[in-house]
Amino acid sequence: MPTLSRRAAVLQESAIRKLDLSVARQTGVRFHRLNIGQPDVPTPAPLMQAIASFQPKVVAYGPASGLPACREAAAAYHAAWSEGLAAEHVAVTTGGSEALLFAFTAVCDPGDEILAFEPYYTNYNGFATVAGAAIRPVRTELSTGFAIPPDHELDQHVTPRTRAIVFSNPANPTGAVYDTAELERLLRWAARHDLFVLSDEVYRRIWFEQPPATALSFPEHRDRVVVVDSLSKTYSACGLRLGFLISRNGDLMEKVERLGQARLGPQPLAQHVGIAALGLDEGYYEEIRGIYRQRVVAMCEALAELPDVAAPQPAGAFYTMVELPVASTEDFARFLVERFRSDGESVVVAPGGGFYAEASSGDRQIRLAAVTEVASVRRAVQIIGEALRSYPPP
Ligand SMILES: Cc1ncc(COP(=O)(O)O)c(C=O)c1O
Repeated sequence: MPTLSRRAAVLQESAIRKLDLSVARQTGVRFHRLNIGQPDVPTPAPLMQAIASFQPKVVAYGPASGLPACREAAAAYHAAWSEGLAAEHVAVTTGGSEALLFAFTAVCDPGDEILAFEPYYTNYNGFATVAGAAIRPVRTELSTGFAIPPDHELDQHVTPRTRAIVFSNPANPTGAVYDTAELERLLRWAARHDLFVLSDEVYRRIWFEQPPATALSFPEHRDRVVVVDSLSKTYSACGLRLGFLISRNGDLMEKVERLGQARLGPQPLAQHVGIAALGLDEGYYEEIRGIYRQRVVAMCEALAELPDVAAPQPAGAFYTMVELPVASTEDFARFLVERFRSDGESVVVAPGGGFYAEASSGDRQIRLAAVTEVASVRRAVQIIGEALRSYPPP
């Protein structure tokens, strides 16, 4: 048999989807699925109406970087944080995922390195592998609210192969939110090392105390900043697969256009819906913040009642990393799916290892996503508590 590429061989299995096969094999169990960031909030009516009204004679290819109307709508929306942003600064992509893949590919040569605040969104590993690059972790700690480490600590991670730093703000999986002062310091630091700053802002509208800063709002760093946004979480439209790569760096946007040409164009239906989504008023964003606030508060209150369990309250997004009194959360997560039942119910969680470069660093942690209704989130945490009392099984 011919051999597969080395890149294919090292591709990491998604930590978030790892248990899916096993879940599918179980029968007669009601699972609370807190492992994946798939909200159950209904997709807003204007988006559903846009889907219904999409009636072209031919579902045609469109331009590689997106339909002009969609790029303009995205530029107008983001211009609220970045004056003068224009359509040429936006490329429409197949979800934030493709924007990340394009960004990694555009800034890295094979063997290059991208720094990432750890724990980090597990799929950065996959995008880096495909781009021929490697993620180099920069550890952040629960005790400091997962704050960005001081410059002298960041310095220690830079090598001649470092090309960029990537982070999500608000952060998945930690729920951290970086403000203007923190981001400004990071950008100044990146400028000293001449790195690209890849700011993944797909949760930018979901925050609970104060909004995150956007890397787009620092004109002096315009050439090194790439922002990723997406419809998935903000509009509960994960399956639509629409995202944006935004940068004022003209050279980079030209190469992103070429990457886009290789896959022809993003989906016209998704772009049609995207234009409707970007026109929603502020009331919509307040409403979803209210929904997720209730859920994360309920999740953290329920977790606080469990002995020997530590979990920070997220400042944004809808995840939290939870420290459990077990030696292997990989094993505990499997125990929940395959063996533990409470009145015919159980919970699917994401083991923490996948969010660290060295999986063992997350051995005692799980990531929970507050993506279901308050009652289900509370019940799920209660089931985790019951399961901990019966674990390890005899
Ligand atoms: C931090 C982060 N970035 C990017 C993505 C990709 O989202 P999508 O491709 O659905 O836009 C996700 C999805 O969970 C995420 O959590």
